Amino acid sequence: MISKELFLKLVKTAVKAPSSHNTQPWLISLKENRIFIKPDYSRSLKIADPKNRELFISLGCLAETFIIALAFHGFNSRLFIHDSIDNFHLCIKTIEDENIIPSPLFPYINLRQTTRNNFNTEVIPNFTIDELLSLDLQENIKIKILTKKENFDLISELITEANAYQIGNKHFIDELVEWMRFNQREAMQKGDGLYSACSGIPSIGRFIGKFLIKNFIKIKSENKRLTKQLDNSGAIVLFSSKTDSFSDLVKTGMIFNKFALLATKSNLCHSFLNSPCQVEHTRKKLAANFNEKYPFPQLIIRLGYSSKMPYSFRRRINEVITDKYE
Ligand SMILES: Cc1cc2nc3c(=O)[nH]c(=O)nc-3n(C[C@H](O)[C@H](O)[C@H](O)COP(=O)(O)O)c2cc1C
Repeated sequence: MISKELFLKLVKTAVKAPSSHNTQPWLISLKENRIFIKPDYSRSLKIADPKNRELFISLGCLAETFIIALAFHGFNSRLFIHDSIDNFHLCIKTIEDENIIPSPLFPYINLRQTTRNNFNTEVIPNFTIDELLSLDLQENIKIKILTKKENFDLISELITEANAYQIGNKHFIDELVEWMRFNQREAMQKGDGLYSACSGIPSIGRFIGKFLIKNFIKIKSENKRLTKQLDNSGAIVLFSSKTDSFSDLVKTGMIFNKFALLATKSNLCHSFLNSPCQVEHTRKKLAANFNEKYPFPQLIIRLGYSSKMPYSFRRRINEVITDKYE
């Protein structure tokens, strides 16, 4: 059985999992040997993620982090995905196992971060790519790693197209601003959202930050920035699935999270170039050009070598723990 004390420790570690816009859209509870994860729809991104696709991927990231942390503390676990529309939840059933071998990824939970600065142009060695590809995959999920620059062209075009579409949408920018945390005080107080320092933006007040984002983010300069980031990346990775079901989304999150931890273990940084998966028409083009058998593109990341950025914050654990399970 998991003690209350251990549960608090596990939650503190697990919430280090990534989530879209750092919304941390989860509610967590414990009943005896089972950990329950429920979506917190009050934290969903109505504009950037209207179907909650990324919300469910984020829950998968959290579940995987729990499983790795549980193994470290001597528990075997099995995930059950209850995918009913009105009562979606995940249940991690655990059993104590003194012979369990802890995952080598555990130490990297605290070290992983989304690193948004420019990477250097160092080539990623083949043995590192092979190690990343050796990851145990879940049924229905596919990872494609592109390492040749000429293969970046199509992705680059789609990023430019999707980005222009998002920046041109006032509601998208409004939502982004709502989740921006423009200085350390704001970021620490809320414990969520996109802390500007993680994107290399100096601390400013909310009023000025809002003004700058709304008036100075331009399609041309953003695309220039993203193209440069792409050019400096050692690899682009596309995660896709067979369906858009809750279950495949959760599994995508689990695989992505493991992949990101393994990359961190190899000293590789990662950051997202997701916009082509977020905009419907570019998502269709992406699907038509990659992986016919896995026609639902879910995430795109770039990989490379770089110095680390400041870490983002998390909410206090009493804000995510609930006594309502299932
Ligand atoms: C499903 C998903 C989608 C994400 N999409 C983006 C994205 O489009 N752009 C981006 O810069 N970061 C993206 N992120 C990264 C989150 O913003 C990041 O995980 C969060 O801010 C917490 O920071 P950390 O990963 O450094 O812990 C995404 C993360 C997840 C799990």
